[in-house]
Amino acid sequence: MQGVILVTGALGQIGTELVPALREKYGVERVVATDIRMPAKDAAIADGPFELLDCTGPGELREMVRRYEIGAILHLAALLSAVAEDKPQSAWRLNMDSLYRVLEIARQHGCAVFFPSSIGAFGPTTPRDHTPQDTIQRPTTMYGITKVAGELLCDYYAQRFGVDARGVRLPGLISHVAPPGGGTTDYAVEMFRQAVRYRHYACYLRPDTRLDMMYMPDAIKAIMNLMAADPAGLEHRNAFNITAMSVTPDELAAEIRKHLPDFAIDYEIDPARQAIADSWPRSIDDGAARQEWGWRPDYDLGRMVADMLDKLRLKLGPAR
Ligand SMILES: NC(=O)c1ccc[n+]([C@@H]2O[C@H](COP(=O)([O-])OP(=O)(O)OC[C@H]3O[C@@H](n4cnc5c(N)ncnc54)[C@H](O)[C@@H]3O)[C@@H](O)[C@H]2O)c1
Repeated sequence: MQGVILVTGALGQIGTELVPALREKYGVERVVATDIRMPAKDAAIADGPFELLDCTGPGELREMVRRYEIGAILHLAALLSAVAEDKPQSAWRLNMDSLYRVLEIARQHGCAVFFPSSIGAFGPTTPRDHTPQDTIQRPTTMYGITKVAGELLCDYYAQRFGVDARGVRLPGLISHVAPPGGGTTDYAVEMFRQAVRYRHYACYLRPDTRLDMMYMPDAIKAIMNLMAADPAGLEHRNAFNITAMSVTPDELAAEIRKHLPDFAIDYEIDPARQAIADSWPRSIDDGAARQEWGWRPDYDLGRMVADMLDKLRLKLGPAR
């Protein structure tokens, strides 16, 4: 990536880990973290440039792009799937209006753009197993609608105006640094924390709900590698399917039990989040990302669970 990098929504689950990784690779002063709220004083992100930025506000982003001579905008700010279903009007406003503004500013100032789409960009009529890169996308959630529209808008700005807009369709992300922000796959992170603390978790999805997942280090690697890839090799540019594993709550619990044999799970289904999960693929085909920019995850289910438990045990201390 050229020039200074600006990250929106930088205090969220992804930004909290992406910003330090970018600063390590490109230098602290070359990465400006922004969010609508302030970081905690002791947060790692506060060690470098930070700006308050409401992506739905007029003018502020453009002023920052000028002031810092921004070369790339990594646009993470969004409402996630479960929250977006609860507040569809706010989701449209944040997820769509801000992306349009980011792309317009990128067009005028020659910035590259990263846009994270999601497995939520698929719907009930999409083939649910080995979901192809290019296939039917008729999502039934506001989140999914904003993600498909976002993918198309990024393609449009790339083709029509030559904006270097790139993106991936992320699966559910599992991490231990920042809490998840209200997605349908948050159960996986909750399960780990409850397992380490209390040896018990009540899951809001059915035991056989199969969805794609990924450990955060792989997601960070994917974003950095895609943005650094030679554009000549990118046929798709945007909305690359990427995945690392396809798991059910029951399988995740069984893997955790290999390390914590007294961990118990039961199920209290939340119909709203179950309906969202049932409209998404069970497993996606990430062949295009593998072929076009060499995508390959480092963590399968076993490696991810072992590392998550190590890290959480250090963070949360012994079980109560
Ligand atoms: N985490 C996942 O599992 C996942 C999966 C697929 C796609 N994604 C996508 O990746 C992106 C980042 O996800 P995340 O998990 O880090 O989200 P998150 O909810 O954890 O963080 C979003 C951040 O955006 C900030 N924000 C909210 N409103 C804002 C506004 N008006 N202006 C500026 N900032 C604002 C919030 O304060 C928060 O820090 C989103 O676009 C999301 O749709 C995430």
